[in-house]
Amino acid sequence: MIRVGIAGIGFMGMIHYLAYEKLKGAKVAALCETQRERLAGDWRGIKGNFGPAGRKMDLSGIDKYENLDEMLADPKLDMIDICLPPAAHAAVAIAALKAGKHVFCEKPIALKAADGARMVRTAQSAGKQLMIGQVLPFFPEYAFAYKAIKSRKYGKLLGGHFKRIISDPQWLTHFYDPEKVGGPMLDLHVHDAHYIRLICGMPTSVSTVGRMRGEVAEYFVSQFAFEDPNLVVSAASGVIHQQGRGFSAGFEIHLQKATLLYDFSVVGDKPEASMPLTVLNADGKVERPTMPSSDPVDSFVEELTEATRAVRRGKPSAMLDGELARDAVILCQKQTESIRKRRPVKL
Ligand SMILES: NC(=O)c1ccc[n+]([C@@H]2O[C@H](COP(=O)([O-])OP(=O)(O)OC[C@H]3O[C@@H](n4cnc5c(N)ncnc54)[C@H](O)[C@@H]3O)[C@@H](O)[C@H]2O)c1
Repeated sequence: MIRVGIAGIGFMGMIHYLAYEKLKGAKVAALCETQRERLAGDWRGIKGNFGPAGRKMDLSGIDKYENLDEMLADPKLDMIDICLPPAAHAAVAIAALKAGKHVFCEKPIALKAADGARMVRTAQSAGKQLMIGQVLPFFPEYAFAYKAIKSRKYGKLLGGHFKRIISDPQWLTHFYDPEKVGGPMLDLHVHDAHYIRLICGMPTSVSTVGRMRGEVAEYFVSQFAFEDPNLVVSAASGVIHQQGRGFSAGFEIHLQKATLLYDFSVVGDKPEASMPLTVLNADGKVERPTMPSSDPVDSFVEELTEATRAVRRGKPSAMLDGELARDAVILCQKQTESIRKRRPVKL
């Protein structure tokens, strides 16, 4: 049984807790949170953009800490699950690894790639696993595409376009702060940057045009170049000002013998899959494979199953790899640099 201590009971801490409830072979043994009512089980003030509303929880049998160092010193914990704001990831992950714990940490790995690299090095020298919760490959449509690409069921990957756009999250006070959240590049696009890195390898350069908002990119379109000139990959991401469509994401993935399409939005609070996962086959046939679940919490169940399995088996997970997550942050930094310099930037 893997015993987990969750650091931070906000939106993601709650989603992870609910996911662990569905996991076999792992259980939440401790929680750390500075807000006392949350530590006492009153999660009604927790809000997010998917999943169930926060409610009153029975947390009996779980150790509760207000201080992170005290939780890290708890000898019964095998893994620390970091659900803290991004600015805290590097310091807490490094302290947890040095305390002899495996670490699962929410995305982005850190606000700066150099801090992500320090986390990776610390995990290597401590001989512990560092896993980053880049959850996108565990969402059914992206998992389907990943499997299709890896298996070469439809031939070689030729490229594609990825999209992730939100309306301005005016209620999030620190969203555009480069030292706290990093804006849409590090909060939102990092999902697609990671997925592109996962399926295509590391680009050789990136060319991005975009609008800046202070220090961070607000809306941007990128073209990624690879050693293979036939691999054509682009992405659009960021914030639009109208509030009517809170979230929109999707892809068009080109393979030699098929094209995969997917488009999902939340329009006026209503989820709309304007293009459910669709496979356009070489012979003109159109398929709509059945997806295993439409509940986003289930993607976190898949992700944390992968993480706790990796710890149990002592075998690192390729999809949750720390270096991959660090590369995603490098890609984000280079895109911002390209916007600023108004020219392609080498990687
Ligand atoms: N994968 C996804 O789809 C997804 C979605 C949302 C957020 N996230 C990521 O999850 C992370 C957390 O985001 P969130 O939306 O849950 O934030 P949040 O603000 O809702 O929660 C953070 C919690 O940490 C607590 N906290 C802060 N400092 C602490 C400390 N020193 N000790 C103990 N508790 C402390 C806060 O009180 C709060 O309850 C971020 O990295 C974010 O990017 C991922």
